[in-house]
Amino acid sequence: MIGRLNHVAIAVPDLEAATKTYRDVLGAKVSEPQAEPDHGVTVVFVELDNTKIELLHPLGEDSPIAGYLAKNTSGGMHHVCYEVEDILAARDKLVEEGARILGSGEPKIGAHKKPVLFLHPKDFNGTLVELEQV
Ligand code: CO
Repeated sequence: MIGRLNHVAIAVPDLEAATKTYRDVLGAKVSEPQAEPDHGVTVVFVELDNTKIELLHPLGEDSPIAGYLAKNTSGGMHHVCYEVEDILAARDKLVEEGARILGSGEPKIGAHKKPVLFLHPKDFNGTLVELEQV
């Protein structure tokens, strides 16, 4: 069911410092910061040949990554995103298999303007999983 790894998201306490690390130390191509008010984050996209890294920084009062950064003060891996062809079919299959979908269970439009869902980390080895329809 899952296809390519679309991105790995890393929560960072200092977006400018993290961007510099990826651009200047690791020599990667990085985007300008992009505010995603609907998702409570500002994102910098790091373009790699085979996938992307997304640097996430909290935006606004109740950012979904604020709690994570409170526990992981130097930042850390927040989620992985796998591509699926049909997100509703994928969701129905996962629910049938007993996996829990976070939130309402209905796809939201993600940072790439495509429908996304998040799966409960306890059902996936302690890893928050995002599915994106491509
Ligand atoms: Co993501």
